[in-house]
Amino acid sequence: MLLTSSDAPSEIWQTVLHELHRGALDPKHPFRYLTLATAGTHFPQVRTVVLRELTSNLDFLVYTDVRSAKVQDMLEVPRVSLLFYHPKKQVQVRVKALATIHVDDDLAQLHWKKISEKRQSEYTSKLAPGTRIENPDLGWETDIKNAHFSVLKFSPLSIEVLQLAKDGHLRMQFELASRWQGNWMAP
Ligand SMILES: Cc1cc2nc3c(=O)[nH]c(=O)nc-3n(C[C@H](O)[C@H](O)[C@H](O)COP(=O)(O)O)c2cc1C
Repeated sequence: MLLTSSDAPSEIWQTVLHELHRGALDPKHPFRYLTLATAGTHFPQVRTVVLRELTSNLDFLVYTDVRSAKVQDMLEVPRVSLLFYHPKKQVQVRVKALATIHVDDDLAQLHWKKISEKRQSEYTSKLAPGTRIENPDLGWETDIKNAHFSVLKFSPLSIEVLQLAKDGHLRMQFELASRWQGNWMAP
């Protein structure tokens, strides 16, 4: 268990942030992967992405191809949700956030430099993600001179944690509007 009912909200806040930080740093941590939900045109859209960093400002950073559908979704509706789950500790973290897309600016350049050349090629496909193709080979063609790298920055407005427990589940919400003070909620 990550949280108990005797923990103070401030302790829970620190614990949750600590685990999220670990997710960004440790490839084996379950918070390394998150589900990113956007408001799609006709349906809500969800997909798995990698948490690259949780900054000291509490921004969640993710890398993606700027031509991908998720970017288009966020340009239309910048409000997104992030979902994390830790199966061993049975903890779910739900985040509501505002997205900004960074291409070729200081943030994007800083992160681009951190990526190995091999990994950089993941952002150089000739065809945009989601393009219909006749066979899979066509999707692997790259043009290394043309990268389509972007950093997605998610600035949270609300972070909610749910701890499953035999003696009773625990749920707490933290909001930017109340300076991240925690409030218990009925689970
Ligand atoms: C384990 C895993 C990790 C992934 N990480 C990323 C990622 O960090 N960034 C990304 O753009 N797509 C990532 N993907 C692919 C996305 O889930 C998705 O298929 C792709 O980005 C296209 O999504 P879209 O069409 O909604 O934009 C990952 C997929 C899996 C299964």
